[in-house]
Amino acid sequence: MSGEKIAIASDHAGVELKAALKQVLASAGCEVLDLGTDGSASVDYPDFADALAARMRAGDVARGVLICGTGIGIGIAANRHKGVRAALCHDVTSARLSRQHNDANVLVLGARMVGAEVARDCLLAFLETPFEGGRHERRVAKLG
Ligand code: RB5
Repeated sequence: MSGEKIAIASDHAGVELKAALKQVLASAGCEVLDLGTDGSASVDYPDFADALAARMRAGDVARGVLICGTGIGIGIAANRHKGVRAALCHDVTSARLSRQHNDANVLVLGARMVGAEVARDCLLAFLETPFEGGRHERRVAKLG
């Protein structure tokens, strides 16, 4: 995890949380690729999910973080891309299990749904937890 390059993106609803989580990533030793948005101007969350998926497809990053108000829209948009397994998490348990069982490669957070501390804990669990493999391998393979 330390040294890993992680992309992060949000819509306008997630800008503040994105800034906080960039610090968490940096403290964890990650290189951060910020794909925007940068201000409070209203933007469309699919554009930011698409930007992250494009970076993953290009091999620039293997994992990322997406944030919108609920996490729902940006997570739906991300999961339309082949190879993206985006998990909307509201607590550390779902973040941990998204890695252990689903090999999630994108953590999705709702800035209007969780506080900064919970988001931080979700992010650290996402970064630190390995995929369990075994019986989960076959299921994840079926996701395409
Ligand atoms: C933006 O107002 C809001 O709709 C968006 O951040 C997200 O919650 C959509 O799912």
